[in-house]
Amino acid sequence: MVDDPAQAAAERLAAAARAGGHLALTGGSTPRLAYERAAELQRDWSEATLWWGDERCVGPEHELSNYRLAKEALLDRLEGSPQAVQRIEGERGPAAAAAGYEAALRAAFDASVPRLDLVLLGVGPDGHCASLFPGAPALAEYERLAVGVPEAGLAPWVSRVTLTLPVLTAALEVVFLVTGAEKADAVARAFGESADEAIPASVVAARAASVTVLLDRAAGGL
Ligand code: 6PG
Repeated sequence: MVDDPAQAAAERLAAAARAGGHLALTGGSTPRLAYERAAELQRDWSEATLWWGDERCVGPEHELSNYRLAKEALLDRLEGSPQAVQRIEGERGPAAAAAGYEAALRAAFDASVPRLDLVLLGVGPDGHCASLFPGAPALAEYERLAVGVPEAGLAPWVSRVTLTLPVLTAALEVVFLVTGAEKADAVARAFGESADEAIPASVVAARAASVTVLLDRAAGGL
C-alpha cells in the first residue's frame, strides 16, 4: 500500500520505457493518472513497443477504447513515440481482432509464448484482470495468445479481446494498479494469503515471475 499508487506505477512504466522492450498497458479508469505521470517522467519512448492486455471491441476514437485512453494520457504527451504501437483493432469484432493481435504477437516474438517485459493490469470488483472474467472460457485457453470475449462479465457490456493466461504469466514483470474501496474485496481475494483460483487476478499473481501490487489504502482495506 502506497500513498500515491499512480506515481509508483508511473515510475515502473517510465523505467521500462527507458530500458526499451515490450510493455502491455491496461484500460479502464484507474491508469489514466499513471500514464500522465509516466509521460512526464519519461518523454522518449522510442525504444519501447506498446501492447495492450485487452481492448473493448470499439473503434480507436470511441470513449470506451483502451487505446484512446493511452493516446490521450500518454502517447500524445510524449516527445519520442514508441517504435511500435500494437493497437488491438477492436472494431473488427472479437474473433477477427483477436486473430490479428495474435498474429502481431507471433510476428514480434520468435518464442512460442511472447515474453513481455512489463504488463500493467487493473483488477475489477469481480477480480477480473485484462478481460479474463471469473469462470470465463478464456481462462482455460492455453494455446492461443489472445482470444475474443463476446460476452463481457462486467460493464462496459461490450465484446472484448484479451491476452490469455500464458502470455500474462510469462511476463518478466507484472504490475497491478488497484485503487478505491470498491476493489477491497477483490484485492483481499486475489492477493491474500491463499491464492483463489476462481479469481483471475489471483491466478496471474500466483504464476507470474515478478509481481508488484500497488494499492491505495482503500483498495488494501481488507
Ligand atoms: C478494461 C480493463 C480492465 C480494468 C478493470 C479495472 O478493459 O476494462 O483492462 O481489466 O483494468 O476492469 O477497471 P477500472 O480501472 O476502471 O476500475
